[in-house]
Amino acid sequence: MGYIPDDIIDTVRIHSDIVEVVSRHVQLKRKGKNYTGLCPFHHERTPSFTVAPDKQFFYCFGCGAGGNVFKFLMMKENIAFYEAVSMLAERAGVILPSAENPAQREKERRLEGLRHLNSLAKDYFYHVLINHESAIEARQYLAARGLTREILERFQLGFAPPGWSSLIEHLGKKGYRPQDLLMAGLIAESGTGRYYDRFRSRIMFPIWDAVGRVVGFGGRVLDGSLPKYLNTPETSFFSKGRLLYGLHLARQSIRETGYVLLMEGYMDVITAHQYGLKNAVASLGTALTADHVRLLMNYSRNVVIAFDADNAGVAATVRGLDILQEHGCQVRVVSVPDGKDPDEFLRTNGQQSWEDLVGQALPLIEYKLQHALSRGPNRTVADKLEVMRQVFPSLTGANNVEKEEGLKAVARVLNLSWETVAGEFKRFQAKLGGKRSNADNIANSMHNILHKVERLDARGKAEAIILRLILDDPSLGVMILDEIGERPFKTPYYHNIFKHCMDLAGRPGYRPEEIFNILESEEQSVLSRLLMQDIPGENPDHILKAYIRSVNRCIRQDRKGDLLREIQEAERSGNHRQSNDLLRELMMLKEIDEAEKTGDHGRVAGLLQEYRQGPDLRQQ
Ligand code: CTP
Ligand code: MN
Repeated sequence: MGYIPDDIIDTVRIHSDIVEVVSRHVQLKRKGKNYTGLCPFHHERTPSFTVAPDKQFFYCFGCGAGGNVFKFLMMKENIAFYEAVSMLAERAGVILPSAENPAQREKERRLEGLRHLNSLAKDYFYHVLINHESAIEARQYLAARGLTREILERFQLGFAPPGWSSLIEHLGKKGYRPQDLLMAGLIAESGTGRYYDRFRSRIMFPIWDAVGRVVGFGGRVLDGSLPKYLNTPETSFFSKGRLLYGLHLARQSIRETGYVLLMEGYMDVITAHQYGLKNAVASLGTALTADHVRLLMNYSRNVVIAFDADNAGVAATVRGLDILQEHGCQVRVVSVPDGKDPDEFLRTNGQQSWEDLVGQALPLIEYKLQHALSRGPNRTVADKLEVMRQVFPSLTGANNVEKEEGLKAVARVLNLSWETVAGEFKRFQAKLGGKRSNADNIANSMHNILHKVERLDARGKAEAIILRLILDDPSLGVMILDEIGERPFKTPYYHNIFKHCMDLAGRPGYRPEEIFNILESEEQSVLSRLLMQDIPGENPDHILKAYIRSVNRCIRQDRKGDLLREIQEAERSGNHRQSNDLLRELMMLKEIDEAEKTGDHGRVAGLLQEYRQGPDLRQQ
């Protein structure tokens, strides 16, 4: 990875028309000055994915994904910024220089360093497992679980020896400091500041990212002690919600077989591979996230679920899977008989029996129905409603044929008429909120910021329009600081976007779209949404003033609430002087409100000035 200078990035961007790039993935239709299509990042039936050719960015009103052409490729191909630029540069015939930026290089080097340490640790644990005396028991354990030497090597299983500082010493000899190992999650620090190996007496499962770099470990105990697995701590570097165990080994087979075998545990995946099922991956004991789903969808949309058959497994199956369907995946569920997990089943019954099970896998909705039935007859109205409540989420993302089939199945199983079930389903959807499917809702809580934008309060709405105006004409920015205060925006990410805008504003030929490249992912979506919104009215100056007033009103409203509480507090503790001061401030705010109602802007301005110069630090 390298660093690409800004002007080269600009050159690549200018040569990569977003409409053309997006069109290779999404069928776009012209609508006014924009293009729309079905969003590739969440499942939807009516297009809310919008591309603005004039501004060269995209935004989805359904899931909130948004950004420029680089961001689109990054999300679509699941690649890093550098790779997206490289891909487009190649198409555009732009040659990337190998110049480097110190900050970027430093960050890359740090991450590379963490990966390198994890990789060294992996080699060490592997070496210990294969050779050390301390690992005899571990070797016996793994052999007893049916793992061959060859599979140990393929998955690079290892053993962390029992001492408190084996790894620290081993890597210390190679010149690595405990501080580095700490950053890499390999060791921990005690309350008294002593370092010790995080993993001790555990079988080590290295965890790779999709590209095949070691980013962390799961360590399993040999006996029944707890916790059964200890994992590398969660950081932005190692995040379970974004990793799928075994994916780097499964990618090719997923493409070849046309489906993903999604399992629960490390051992399930390893055994599956040993039995030739190389399309197996596992979530790391966490619920499936939208990031997981996107990662999978790069390889296939057909997902076969093979979770443990124990009760926890079944419940997880039922709960966690709608998210796949909502993103447009076809989900089938394997029922592993006799309370076994896939690992045990494979070792007892072999590959052919497994293939038979996969052949009998049920579509998600039918699996849920069967599960509901297996818990006893559903006789009462309440029982039937409960079953419907459980299975309907699986239908919200389905196409019409699937939906029709699903509703029929529900009617059959619950012994109800199709009309009744369809009616209930309609009500269920209405409750989800208008036309929004569950998929939209999930995508929203993922991009949770956008979820908040969705339910903008008065202040949020005003802030959105104010920032929109400033983005177009940054010279208005100063007025905001004067009239509202040093931190004019409360909505998440606005302040950062505002700051970047003010920074860039001085550059000749400023365009708001330029800010994209310096923003973080969430900020990019927020900026897309802002730029997508129309300015209400003709005269920016008037609009701006009106919305500044609105923000200030909201700020006063909040302050009044606080004051009431503070006054009560002061009275309770007998602090009359303070309570008097607070009361005076409250009266003053009320006076400003009154003046504003009469439309006397001059008087409002005067009162505001007086208020701000008041005894307290009242600047927000
Ligand atoms: N897991 C975890 N931490 C735990 C328990 C489980 O991270 N304390 C994760 C691991 O990724 C594990 C998966 O959840 O692989 C499934 O858990 P489980 O079924 O208990 O483990 P298996 O991998 O099946 O292990 P085994 O068959 O050896 O008991
Ligand atoms: Mn297991």
